[in-house]
Amino acid sequence: MNIVELQTVGSTNDHAKLLAKEGAASGTIVWAHEQTGGRGRQGNLWVSLPGNLFMSMILRPQAPAGHIGQLSFVSAVALANVLEKIVPVAQVSLKWPNDVLINRKKAAGILIETENRMSWAVVGIGVNIAHAPEGAISLHEAGAAGVTAGQVLALLAKEMAAVVESWEKAGFDGIRRAWLKRAHKLGGEITARLPKENLTGTFQGIDPTGALQLQLPDGTMRTINSGEVFI
Ligand code: BTN
Repeated sequence: MNIVELQTVGSTNDHAKLLAKEGAASGTIVWAHEQTGGRGRQGNLWVSLPGNLFMSMILRPQAPAGHIGQLSFVSAVALANVLEKIVPVAQVSLKWPNDVLINRKKAAGILIETENRMSWAVVGIGVNIAHAPEGAISLHEAGAAGVTAGQVLALLAKEMAAVVESWEKAGFDGIRRAWLKRAHKLGGEITARLPKENLTGTFQGIDPTGALQLQLPDGTMRTINSGEVFI
């Protein structure tokens, strides 16, 4: 396994994107102990203190370009498999599109970036291990007191490779089912914040492409490709 370990970096995603452009092999991982400009989705800052995990994996997916959205579910399932091993007493759930929760609080986030032709994608993963912002949870708080970023990285690198391979060979259906088994608020009321509107309805699931299926109070079904879901 090719792991590029850095003490400090702006963002592991940015570093991994540079390596991908230079031709780095699929499976290459950039791991930093600290980020000075960690990025979350939708332009948010990802506070990145030493003790937490910051990693980005370069992938060259053997999948049609239109399936890139599925990669966030692939990554979330791999992350959930690992966290369930590390904190077996806690409840791990997945919030559309790609947050990982422990006991209903955010424990990890995923930021996927790719180029148009999709010759590569960078899967950036941040896991709250020793620290968590207000309202979120760390693995230490969840019961895995001594676990380190290096230990989580080792498990995650292996699990990502296995789940990506299963997606490439067997397709999205198994991933979709594994994701739905842990879906946060499935069958409950959620609000999807879209660029021009907020939609509240019943979370019915995800379709075969990974889009959110939301049933509105008037009974109509909306399929939502991107956005942010709030409780
Ligand atoms: C989110 O939930 O908003 C996604 C957070 C993703 C954070 C990770 S930390 C490693 C990688 N490098 C970054 O700058 N961001 C991702």
